[in-house]
Amino acid sequence: MENKIIIGNMKMYMSINQIDNYLKKMEDKITNNVILCPTSLYIPYFLNKNCNIGIQNIYYQDKGAYTGEISAKEAYDIGIRYAIVGHSERRFYFNESDIDINKKVHACLKNNLNVILCVGETEEEKNMLKTDVVLRHQLKIGLNEVDKKYQESIIIAYEPRWAIGTNKIPSSKEIGDTINYIKLVLKKYCDLDLKVVYGGSVDNKNIDKLNKIDSVDGFMIGGASVNPEKFSKIIDCVNG
Ligand code: PGA
Repeated sequence: MENKIIIGNMKMYMSINQIDNYLKKMEDKITNNVILCPTSLYIPYFLNKNCNIGIQNIYYQDKGAYTGEISAKEAYDIGIRYAIVGHSERRFYFNESDIDINKKVHACLKNNLNVILCVGETEEEKNMLKTDVVLRHQLKIGLNEVDKKYQESIIIAYEPRWAIGTNKIPSSKEIGDTINYIKLVLKKYCDLDLKVVYGGSVDNKNIDKLNKIDSVDGFMIGGASVNPEKFSKIIDCVNG
């Protein structure tokens, strides 16, 4: 069986003087199904270390007068092969809309970057029983006009916003059902057959249980991915 995907979303969690130690400790642990996404500024320290590197965000224009932004083309040219698009922190703190996110998806695919498209409901939406509607909308708009030929280049990360960094996790049944629903929407509305990973408070303590959910194709890990001990345990468990 193909290995599950393990994405480390390192956010702005790691300081420069932790990098050497981290890479030394993780050297033998990082397998080819692991994608590390450090803060953009530190990506060069992680390149050429035999691991897949992703960027946490890109801008949708290839070049031009966009002070402070990084394009998919620039990312690809330096050796980055994945981009996280539409993370809930981007949607929430930077007001990214599904239309912006769709432009980013296309910019990545055009420039040969694999896309990790994040979707997920807020706690309020969940309580109002709107999870399905919200996810359907995010997927339909986010993947609008994406050609089936890019199927292998897109991963969906299902991350309920209320589960990120909170230690609150949906039940295994909820995760399994929601991921099955996402796969159904992808097929029905987007004609795409994509891998779907779960993210939100995944750590070394709950990974055993989460890893047993059938429909989950892997995990996206935030906080625990910058801790070599915790992240190693997660990788060991997922890789069996
Ligand atoms: P967390 O973050 O593992 O710290 O909850 C996950 C994410 O935001 O991708």
